[in-house]
Amino acid sequence: MIENSLRDQVVILTGAAGGIGSAIARTFHRLGARILLADYDEQGVSSLASSLDPTGERVISVAYDASKPADADAAVSTCVARFGHIDHLVPAAAIFEDQPFATMTDAQWRRTMSVNLDGVFYICRRSIPHIRPGGTIVTIASSAAHEGCSPQHVHYGASKGGVLAFTKSLARELSPNIRVNTVSPGTIDTPMVADLLRQKGDKFLSITPAGRFGTGEEVGDAVAFLCSNASSYIMGQTIHVNGGSYMGG
Ligand SMILES: NC(=O)c1ccc[n+]([C@@H]2O[C@H](COP(=O)([O-])OP(=O)(O)OC[C@H]3O[C@@H](n4cnc5c(N)ncnc54)[C@H](O)[C@@H]3O)[C@@H](O)[C@H]2O)c1
Repeated sequence: MIENSLRDQVVILTGAAGGIGSAIARTFHRLGARILLADYDEQGVSSLASSLDPTGERVISVAYDASKPADADAAVSTCVARFGHIDHLVPAAAIFEDQPFATMTDAQWRRTMSVNLDGVFYICRRSIPHIRPGGTIVTIASSAAHEGCSPQHVHYGASKGGVLAFTKSLARELSPNIRVNTVSPGTIDTPMVADLLRQKGDKFLSITPAGRFGTGEEVGDAVAFLCSNASSYIMGQTIHVNGGSYMGG
């Protein structure tokens, strides 16, 4: 059912050049979707688009700063001009900066909130009028917003807690026409957490029943499921993709 329901569907994916974003992009592409890939990393997102679809018929890319409302306007306009409408939105762009709370500046706090939370608002607000009934939004939270927490990343944890609350309220407001859900990854082996894994990888592994870190593809599969008709009765929920970290000991 997942295979069939995403064919030709139109997807906006932000943070598309990242470890998880690019895996989500490959999953949607394999399932036959048409995709607008948006990312701050213009070169990365443009090479991903041309590697997936050299013709540019089904996959296009835009340079996009999630913290800028005008970039959200431009991404949505480009998608609608090219594909006519939107079916699914996956706002995955985020930053994860190490900063002990004692020395965190207002500017550091604001920068994380502006990309990770304001950015989700900007792109959702502009996309929703173009999302067809039956469409979906899948936000990306983090274990940092749940039991996992994330010391030295209070701003990141707060932004992802905001994404969770945002998602539930939006799900209630948009149901049943548009289903809104969250995927909340645990530790996924991507550039975002490379430094963290160098410092604390063994500790994280010891509390992960799967005995390994997750892959972007495993997050992509959960996102595709929530966008597909296979999840048609799932609304306002969070799927945890964390190798069993919340099972307890
Ligand atoms: N990797 C993990 O362990 C993990 C865990 C929990 C949640 N997540 C979440 O998954 C999502 C993807 O993370 P990832 O691991 O692929 O990280 P990543 O660093 O590999 O990718 C993030 C992408 O976002 C882009 N980006 C950064 N700032 C941007 C901005 N201002 N505007 C637009 N794009 C911007 C980057 O260029 C990059 O391509 C994020 O929302 C992240 O918070 C990741």
